[in-house]
Parts: sequence; structure tokens; C-alpha cells
Amino acid sequence: MKLRTAVTSMGILVGTALSASLRAQTRTGDTLPAGKETRTNMPSYEPKDFSRLLGMEGFSDTLLKNHFTLYQGYVTNTNKVFDALGQITQDGKAATPDFAELKRRLGWEFNGMRLHELYFDNLGGKAALDKGGKLAKAIESGFGAYDRWEADFKATGTMRGIGWTILYQDNVGGRLFNQWINEHDTGHPAGCTPLLILDVFEHAFMVDYGLKRADYIGAFFKNIDWKAVEGRVR
Ligand SMILES: [Fe+2]
Repeated sequence: MKLRTAVTSMGILVGTALSASLRAQTRTGDTLPAGKETRTNMPSYEPKDFSRLLGMEGFSDTLLKNHFTLYQGYVTNTNKVFDALGQITQDGKAATPDFAELKRRLGWEFNGMRLHELYFDNLGGKAALDKGGKLAKAIESGFGAYDRWEADFKATGTMRGIGWTILYQDNVGGRLFNQWINEHDTGHPAGCTPLLILDVFEHAFMVDYGLKRADYIGAFFKNIDWKAVEGRVR
């Protein structure tokens, strides 16, 4: 089978699985067709409301509303993929390309959901970083000075390409470092806690800033909720 044909077939297979999932309406609490058992007792994910961010300096409502809609799509698709995987498993068809492709897909959809939640949650702040707090001390310990960390974070965020810039804390030893994440589902350091998340996909800034990503990152820094970030420090 030629590659293009194989890829097309895969898309049809995955699409079929998702459609079947939609028809089954398997969210906890929904009515299933007679004779069907629930595939999971876990509740579906619900999109969080980030409308408190509307009006934030440096971010237009148009940009934010589009971004919220995009995030909600990740929540919807995370639920769809979990449902479809549950159906495939229940049907005893785990040794199939459908299962394998959906397993891969889950990393994209789930991380797309969670990373956006972490990003929006670390925005909307009014207060400056507490220079005497544990986060500031950890940054100074890891980078020598706050300004060095900020310069490194911004340099990472302005790298060419799309993705995420994340300040991580290594759960082993506590080291802090700024990491570039090229796609939602790749490049995350194992066993580390994301502290500060910056979305540098173009949808996060181009409506307001065009190609001036550094200006967007400047606006991002004016709105960081440092209390939320500090609350993630282990
Ligand atoms: Fe985004």
C-alpha cells in the first residue's frame, strides 16, 4: 500500500471510531443504547471558564475569545478520544490501527487541553512577583538572578517556530529550567512540574501583534499571576 493511501485509510479509520463514539454518547450520566454497558466510570472533562481574563491589558477580547474556543475544542476532543478508546477496548479491538492512532492522538488532545488551562490560569495577575517568596528564591538559586531567568525565558519564547515555553521544576532535586515544547505532546521532561506556561502558537498573539511576538511576550509578562505560579512550586 502506498504511503498516501495508507495515511488516507488511517484517517478514515480514526474518523469512523470518533463518529461511532459520538453516536454512542458515552459521557457518564448519558443514556446508552440498550444492552450497552458504560465503558468508564470516569466523568468527562468540562471546559473551564476563563472569561475573567477578558479586558486584560494587551489582549483583545477577540483574541481571547478565539483562544477560549480553541481550548474548548481540546476538551471536547479529549473526551471523544477517551470514549473512542474505551469503545475499542470494550469491543476487544485493541490490536488495531484505530486503537494505536487514537492512543497517539490522546497525547495531543489531552496536553492541548491541560496546557491551555495552565496558561490561562497563570494569567490575570495584578501583583508583582514576591521577591522574598519561594519561587523568587528558586529562580535566583537556579539562574543567579531574576533578570537572567527572564532573559532566558523570553529568548526561549521568541525562538522561531510554534510551541510552548515552560518554566519547569525538576521534582528530583528541585532544579528550575526553561524548556521549549515544539508540540503539545512532545518534549515534556519526565517527572517535572510545569510552573509558568507561555503559549507561542501563532493563534495566541497574531490577531493583536502580527509577527511581533516579543511584544506579545511583553504583554504576557505584565499579566502573569505570580501567586498561581508560586502555588505550583513543590
Ligand atoms: Fe493556544
